[in-house]
Amino acid sequence: MEPDPPDAAMIRSQVTALAEHFQRSGIHTLPQPNEQSVAKIKNWLETTHSPLVEGIAATDDHQHHAQKSQLDTARSSNASNHKDSRTDSSKLNPLPVPPPSSRQAPTPSRLRTVDAVQTDTGPYPGPDLPDEQRKIQLDGLAASVAGCTKCSVLSGCRNTTVFGEGHVRPRVVFFGEAPGAEEDRLGRPFMGKAGQLLTKMIEACKFSREDVYILNTVKCRPPNNRNPELDERQNCRSFYQSQFSILRPDYIVCLGAVSAHELLQTKLSVGRLRGKLHKFHQSKVLVTYHPAYLLREPNVKKAAWQDLQIMLRDAKIQI
Ligand code: URA
Repeated sequence: MEPDPPDAAMIRSQVTALAEHFQRSGIHTLPQPNEQSVAKIKNWLETTHSPLVEGIAATDDHQHHAQKSQLDTARSSNASNHKDSRTDSSKLNPLPVPPPSSRQAPTPSRLRTVDAVQTDTGPYPGPDLPDEQRKIQLDGLAASVAGCTKCSVLSGCRNTTVFGEGHVRPRVVFFGEAPGAEEDRLGRPFMGKAGQLLTKMIEACKFSREDVYILNTVKCRPPNNRNPELDERQNCRSFYQSQFSILRPDYIVCLGAVSAHELLQTKLSVGRLRGKLHKFHQSKVLVTYHPAYLLREPNVKKAAWQDLQIMLRDAKIQI
């Protein structure tokens, strides 16, 4: 069956995205279109295999691919027109230069995201327990964590393990990296400055810390706050997996690269993973920046808030 032609609004938005991309790349002039390049782009837009046509439902990743292909087409058409545009400068269209603040803002996520990552698809293993049973199971697991000595370095220098805390039937779970000094002292997750910012993020979503559940990828503090090593992550894997299987949240928010890489088993950057919902068993997974990173880069807070709004919209939570 022949697909419907792409609509004008979508083409306009693709072209605008392309122009914005050129601006970000430092290209502030574009050659006037000539008949040949217009025909080439038109042909591309109308081919059956165009990602834009296939992605007429306009998911983020389809837009990303469409923009990339459009960019490739425009690049080759620019290359072939290079001589024309150099010899006739009257054909150059100046593009408005965005103000410095918008140039510093992170690239709109829809331009950089990847296909949704799905790990461990299918339902969580085991039964969906009633609340009381969930609490009993979590307490038992916390006791196993407290006695764990699988990582000789981490268990040798910890004050206490940090299992995680919160509602036993949460809609949202926040998944961090590893305890820091404050957490290691208190045995509770996200208690330091990053924790204070996380609390604000949770409250901005109209939840309290008690409504959600907070846990880390690794339950012991790595020395000098270094990232947990791969074998340390592996050693802790069954603990957080069991926690998720008990909690079965609608949403898991991965805070930073370590938890995102661990849960989604990918090495893609946060910048590439954010901006869409991934999947872990029956939970939807949102990836955003770690609050500690947001404290160092306050400009990025806006992007993190945009990420959280993706979840809020999906969950139909009014803010
Ligand atoms: N950073 C984390 O990732 N987890 C904590 O518990 C505290 C800081």
